[in-house]
Amino acid sequence: MKVLVAYATAHGSTGDVARRIGSVLEQNGHEVTVREAQYITDVKDYEAFVLGTAIESGAWLPALTEFAMRFENDLSSKPTYVWVSCIRVLEEFGMSHIMEYYMPKQLLAKLNLRSITALAGKLDLKSVDWTERWTLSTRYDGHAWPTNFDGDFRNWDKIFDWAIAVLKDLQAVAIQG
Ligand SMILES: Cc1cc2nc3c(=O)[nH]c(=O)nc-3n(C[C@H](O)[C@H](O)[C@H](O)COP(=O)(O)O)c2cc1C
Repeated sequence: MKVLVAYATAHGSTGDVARRIGSVLEQNGHEVTVREAQYITDVKDYEAFVLGTAIESGAWLPALTEFAMRFENDLSSKPTYVWVSCIRVLEEFGMSHIMEYYMPKQLLAKLNLRSITALAGKLDLKSVDWTERWTLSTRYDGHAWPTNFDGDFRNWDKIFDWAIAVLKDLQAVAIQG
């Protein structure tokens, strides 16, 4: 299948995750394009979509929201998979909090959504400027201080497992025709 992995990032780490997911799908026979959402102008050729975004201030980055709204018709008719990269997932009950508060429910309801997850991301405070630090300290809604999560928490085994789950679902979709 022709699969588009579209992602939004502020500091680059979600792009690495997108490329890893893309390579798992490609190694298993899919024709994969991995691209930043803001640069995508046409999606007509694709048969499935994998969308990923970093979270800032408890929300998707605007580039992925805008992409999903722009191509809503295509995303509603083809299998679509979504992940978010963030730090809240590292806290207790993080996954349920993210599903409840970080996901744009009205938008997701319009998609042909097959799977959605949250994966631990990377926060490198050295590369975060003072405005972003201010945003992070005032808007992060976890129990711990966000500065406790200064580091790379991406779990490549979990990323691989989710990519395999997407792969299996794509196989199921292909069999169902
Ligand atoms: C300004 C700022 C705000 C953030 N806000 C949140 C947040 O509200 N919740 C959360 O779980 N993570 C938050 N994060 C953490 C990012 O989602 C995480 O570091 C992500 O992996 C960054 O991905 P990127 O390198 O692709 O930009 C924030 C990070 C920054 C820099």
